Amino acid sequence: MPEAENLSSHAELPSGVDLEPVGLLADPHPEEAAHPGAGPVPLGILPDGATVGGQGQLLVAGVDVSQLVAVVGTPVFVYDEEHLRRRCKEAVAAWGSGVAYASKAFLCQAMARLAYEEGMMIDVSTEGELHVAVSAGVPPSRLVVHGNNKSEAELARAVQLGVGRIVVDSFDEIARLEILASAAPRRPQVMVRVTPGIEAHTHEYVMTGQDDSKFGFGLASGAAKRAVARLARPGSPVELIGVHAHIGSQIFSVESFAKATAVMAGFVGELMQGTDAGGLIREICMGGGLGVAYVEGEESLSIAEWAKVVREAASAAGVPRHVTLTAEPGRAIVASGALTAYKVGTIKEIPGVRTYVSVDGGMSDNPRPVLYGSGYEAFLARCVRSARPRTVTVVGKHCESGDVIVKDAQVPEDLSVGDVLVTPVTGAYGHSMASNYNKVPRPAVVFVRDGLARVVVRRETVEDLLALEDPEAPAISFQATA
Ligand code: LLP
Repeated sequence: MPEAENLSSHAELPSGVDLEPVGLLADPHPEEAAHPGAGPVPLGILPDGATVGGQGQLLVAGVDVSQLVAVVGTPVFVYDEEHLRRRCKEAVAAWGSGVAYASKAFLCQAMARLAYEEGMMIDVSTEGELHVAVSAGVPPSRLVVHGNNKSEAELARAVQLGVGRIVVDSFDEIARLEILASAAPRRPQVMVRVTPGIEAHTHEYVMTGQDDSKFGFGLASGAAKRAVARLARPGSPVELIGVHAHIGSQIFSVESFAKATAVMAGFVGELMQGTDAGGLIREICMGGGLGVAYVEGEESLSIAEWAKVVREAASAAGVPRHVTLTAEPGRAIVASGALTAYKVGTIKEIPGVRTYVSVDGGMSDNPRPVLYGSGYEAFLARCVRSARPRTVTVVGKHCESGDVIVKDAQVPEDLSVGDVLVTPVTGAYGHSMASNYNKVPRPAVVFVRDGLARVVVRRETVEDLLALEDPEAPAISFQATA
């Protein structure tokens, strides 16, 4: 076990490893940090279990990342298992056992099992996510089923399995669900997804709470109230238990969460005073959306602080005590728990213009910069604490100029071909949004813990790329039989 220094204030390390609190390491070369980002990578954004080895190299949970990639290859997503478990525990402590992990952020069987073991429900929004969770051994009663266009097959499977909650999203869905539920042995428990008319301060593509949204039932139009009335009517084949709102993702503004909570509390108050349905409401889910720090200078709320904001707003708005407040975070559970390790393949310097550093992945394993203009940090696995005075643009291997991973990244002066370049905070919406663009196989996913690494999702191979193909497929006739 190499000697290592702790990068995080609450990392647990294997015995025999020296600890040094993050504050002491935060800026060891202040004179080199002449402009923002030129200093070492901000250590607080790395996984809790990240440490610096005796040669200055990156370890995660005691696993030397350079040694790991020598065995498993690059690109690879490296998840700190203990970090993930800690975030799940934090979510359960803050919100209670009804809190769900939004699996769209990152899902594989190992992750579903981990979140379940740590006491979270799992939010699934397609049959695919549901299938992965169920096949991982998550009991259906611990699943929350989402989706703005659940197919009949998806609803049928959810009803047949007896999932914990179905969050209904449209009148068309209610009609489908009522037919399926009438034939079911148990009444499915449902929540109504409400669009509260709140514009969260985040990227337009991940904003969901505004009136003009494909999701849910609008409050302003009265649709939410009509949906509640229909689901709560006597003889309904489903059991209405609550209301739900998700205003968007990567939200840093406390006010947006407080405002949305107040609006939902007002809606529930209105139902309780004016309708019989009000008596059925025993849960308000405020969705996910908690923002996470990706780059130097960003600061996020903890899960506990987020819950406190929502609780205070709810109690200020008079939500009765018997109504449970809950949530479904995705990003806040997994984002900073992982990093991606790439291999540098080519470096192209255009004097006076820009230096392009190409790595062996790109927009196929991290489409977020292209889609949302998201920023990331970059550093080298062999020298975590090196200053990063050189400005380069880290790009992928895809046939598009837009295939940028980090625009104007600060990197160490001596970055060279063959180096292992790391982008932290890639645990959410990286692997889950990965594609095979340019027929690039998707990276492996490795969970590390106590100095051990497990490949929980193997790297795709070029043979996998052919798995669905059938160039000799027999023809099927669709000619009209007039
Ligand atoms: N609940 C619902 C109903 C959602 O639609 C989402 C995310 C969540 C919970 C979890 O939100 P989180 O806590 O992760 O912010 N691909 C984008 C993010 C899309 C979020 C989609 N819905 C990105 O990479 O930033």
